[in-house]
Amino acid sequence: MQNSRIIAVVGATGAQGGGLVRAILADASSGFRARAITRKASGEKAEALRKLGAEVVEADLDNEASLAKAFDGAYGAYCVTNYWEHFTPAKEVSQARNMAQAAKAAKLQHVVWSTLEDTRKRVPLTDPRMPTLMEKYKVPHFDAKGEADAMFAEAGVPTTYLLTAFYWDNFIYFGMGPKKGPDGKLAITMPMGNARLSGIAAEDIGKCAYGIFRQGKQWIGKRVGIAGDHVSGAQMAADMSKALGKEVAYNVVSPEVFRGFGFPGADDLGNMFQYYTEFEKEFTEARSLDTSRSLNPELLDFKTWLAKYKDRIPLEV
Ligand SMILES: NC(=O)c1ccc[n+]([C@@H]2O[C@H](COP(=O)([O-])OP(=O)(O)OC[C@H]3O[C@@H](n4cnc5c(N)ncnc54)[C@H](OP(=O)(O)O)[C@@H]3O)[C@@H](O)[C@H]2O)c1
Repeated sequence: MQNSRIIAVVGATGAQGGGLVRAILADASSGFRARAITRKASGEKAEALRKLGAEVVEADLDNEASLAKAFDGAYGAYCVTNYWEHFTPAKEVSQARNMAQAAKAAKLQHVVWSTLEDTRKRVPLTDPRMPTLMEKYKVPHFDAKGEADAMFAEAGVPTTYLLTAFYWDNFIYFGMGPKKGPDGKLAITMPMGNARLSGIAAEDIGKCAYGIFRQGKQWIGKRVGIAGDHVSGAQMAADMSKALGKEVAYNVVSPEVFRGFGFPGADDLGNMFQYYTEFEKEFTEARSLDTSRSLNPELLDFKTWLAKYKDRIPLEV
């Protein structure tokens, strides 16, 4: 324990970072210790992590000095931003810059940055197939993360760029679960036609990140995509029907219709689903199931995720 290396985990009270903290703490022989970073060390979630054995420290992603202090003495850090708290791409980039600069100041030996594709590399702003949003983006919550990769590279921080995937937990927490349509039947709605979606159990992101820290130096400077499965909407609906014992249909809409749903971020997500669909091959190929499983042997596929979490999926009946 004394000689173990500290991993400072941003987002420790959330899905990605929480998974990493729990993965480190679950492995007594890991040689790592978990330092959970939160804005509220007295909060319930922080207290739960402390009880599990994590050190808890306060820092704010908008405050570079607080991050430098929180990273001090650590071997590595897991860095993640939460777009959905502010819907401001420039803030994600500036928070990534703060983490990269703090990692540099603390001379960290390994940073894992949770990122996504900058979709503008394949769909330039001049491309009319999907609307440009906020004047500068196609999929704001993707593009800002992709743009922020440069913050770590330019700071010269030893970084692994972790491309995450769609959380199946969105069927539980993000309002994407099966809903009753006008025909009275349950359906999941996605504008993805027959394309396969790269998805993952949120808990597996942290477990894969843990695998990256354990495997160490070989991942520095690399981009690695992770997913638990690549499953079409029709297949997800069929698997849900079996798991839930109730028929769930797949309601295919166009990206235009999805963008028009009107909830905050609907246009961003409509563009995201269109990108997943039109670049299905590139998106799924960037997320190897074999690599993901080699990082995390407990990786869930969609059916095993359903078996574990089906009772938490809210059903509007
Ligand atoms: N949903 C999906 O399918 C999906 C897929 C891929 C990627 N993502 C990305 O995942 C990211 C969110 O990660 P998550 O799901 O793990 O988040 P989450 O469960 O919503 O939790 C957010 C975490 O971020 C921390 N945080 C937010 N702002 C902070 C700040 N200013 N200073 C310090 N900590 C801050 C929070 O810590 P405290 O509140 O304790 O301070 C909390 O631990 C988003 O950017 C999203 O785009 C989502």
